[in-house]
Formats: sequence, structure tokens, C-alpha cells
Amino acid sequence: MRDTEFQTRPGDASAPLTPVLAFQLSVDGLPACLWLKLESHNAHGSVKDRTALALWRDVAPRVHPDTGLIESTSGNLGVALAAIAADHGVPFTAVTDPRSPASVVAAIRALRGTVVTVDRPDGAGGYLLSRLAHIRERLAAQPRLVWPNQYANPANPRAHAEGTAPELWSQTGRRPARVLVAVSTGGTLAGFRDFVAGARPDWELVGVDVTGSAALGGTPGRRLLSGIGASRPSSFLPGGHHPAVRVTPRDAVGACLWFADATGVAVGASSGALIAAALRLFRAAPGRADIACLCPDGAAPYGETVYSAHWRRRNGVDPPGDFARGVHVIGSGRPPERAPAGTGRTP
Ligand SMILES: Cc1ncc(COP(=O)(O)O)c(C=O)c1O
Repeated sequence: MRDTEFQTRPGDASAPLTPVLAFQLSVDGLPACLWLKLESHNAHGSVKDRTALALWRDVAPRVHPDTGLIESTSGNLGVALAAIAADHGVPFTAVTDPRSPASVVAAIRALRGTVVTVDRPDGAGGYLLSRLAHIRERLAAQPRLVWPNQYANPANPRAHAEGTAPELWSQTGRRPARVLVAVSTGGTLAGFRDFVAGARPDWELVGVDVTGSAALGGTPGRRLLSGIGASRPSSFLPGGHHPAVRVTPRDAVGACLWFADATGVAVGASSGALIAAALRLFRAAPGRADIACLCPDGAAPYGETVYSAHWRRRNGVDPPGDFARGVHVIGSGRPPERAPAGTGRTP
């Protein structure tokens, strides 16, 4: 099985898969440090490469070469699973919806995946429940088809508890930090929660969701952005998560545009939500620990949405709010490799 492709780097198996950049900010005149872990540097452009590999390892023994796999995805997991399925010569069907970025859908097809676009709204502000209903129908008709089920499979959070989170901790010198994680299935945040419970880094873990999402509880409603949020509560986080920050689509989009303009680093919509949340937290508690954001993907899939003025106007998120007033980027680089003496707890 060639499943080591995403996990190792030639010559150094322990090297991090994705980089962390550090940005020094001035927020209302006070210094603040923002770390971004850029998951767009994974082989297929998102943090879901890690999830896909863990899911594949879990289901591979059950996968039949004629029927293969089916999974519900807003896009990123679909690309990563399509790549693995192609590598192993098994069929893969991605069940997506009209909000899935066109470039991501094209990437799944280029990897020989079949794309089914479910366009029936689920009555909860999105399409997730309709996508899942479609999968259940397919499984009933074709019992040998395998559904990894990213929404409930413990392999999803495990990928982050054992990979993404310890990687970030070591890349940031095991320093105290507030760590911001975007939520959809909740798998990434639950994995970080499990890592914090075991290794006990000096982190405050903050869940970031969008308005209209029920992923961390609350009533679902209309949502504009793909990749972040969900029509129902995360099964990995049955009690929700505290603390959590909820960001409007206008602020998430505005943060993408502001950050690209200020730094030249263009990130995806969920990462925009994280940056908007970080600015809010810096202001609410000036001088507190640095903030690290796990940025799930980059700007590439959002050329026709977040980074299109036409789309922004059509969806009422232009012009962006002035949430970045008083914030200046004054420097950038890599984070320190070692913690100052006496900080951070060792596992
Ligand atoms: C664009 C985007 N946003 C948010 C997330 C967080 O997702 P989850 O809660 O399913 O781990 C992901 C995960 O890959 C993502 O790709």
C-alpha cells in the first residue's frame, strides 16, 4: 500500500507536513503575535489529506475493488479521498452540493472520482442532511459500498490528535497559546481537544464557527461559505465546545481580503473566519498569549467566491466590515523553535 505518500518527507520522517508562519501585529497600538499553520501545503491542498489517510487506513480492509467508497464532502475531503482511491485502483464517489467549489469538483473528477451533486436543500440552511440521505439510499441499494463516514469515524479526530496538533505544538516551541480551530464535522477540533487532554500543552483551545451553523449547538440557518459549519451538531463534540467564537460570513470574507492585502498570504474562507476571530480575541484580552490558527486550506478554491467582487456583491458581503481597523501587520517570519524556560508543560 502506498499510503505513506502524504505522511513522510524524503529523508526526515518526523518533519512537519505543513509550515507555520508567524505575523507580528499591532492591535490598537499593542503588540500581538499571530501564528498560521498553512494546511494548504498538504499534497492535495487541505488539512483533509490527513483525515482522508486516517479514514482510508480504517476502512481499507473492507473496501471491495468493484464497488469502492462513497463519502459526503463539501470538497476538500473528496479530493484527498479521490487521490487515495485512484492510487489503490478502487472507485470513489464524492457526494457534494452546489456550494462545493468548482475547482475542487474538477480536481475530484481529474482523479477519476465520480461526483454526485445533491442540490436539494436540507431545510437546515445547507445540504448536509440531503447528502447523507443520498448516501444511505446508495448503501441500501449496494451493501458492499463502503462509507468511511467522516462525521462519526474516530479515525477523523485521531488524525489530528496524533498528527496535526503535536506538529503545531512542536513548531511553536511548545509555547503557551490560544489555538483556534474551524469546525465542520468537528473532527479537527475534537482531535486537538484529545491532544490537549493527553499532552497538556499550555493551550486554550477555541472553536470557531460561522453564523447559521449548528456544529457546536444552536439553531441552524442559512450559510454562505463552504467547508466551515454544519446543519447539525458535531457527533465528536456532543456538548459543543467552550470557548467558541462565531463569525459572520462578511467578517470571514473581509478577513481573507484584508490579510491577503496586508501580507500577500491568501487563505481560504474558514481561515478568514479564524483570522477574524483572532482579531476579536486580541482586542478582548490584549497582552494575552499568542494566537495560533490552524488554516484548513488556501485561497485557490475560492477564486469564484470569496475572491470575486461579483460574488461578494451578489451575496451581500461587499464591502467587508471594518473589523481590522487599528490592526497593522508589522513583521513576519517563522515562530521560535524553543519555548522560553519555564513555559509549556511536557507530556
Ligand atoms: C475549508 C475547511 N474548513 C473547516 C474545516 C474543519 O473541518 P472539520 O470540523 O470537519 O474537521 C476543514 C477541514 O478540513 C476545511 O477543509
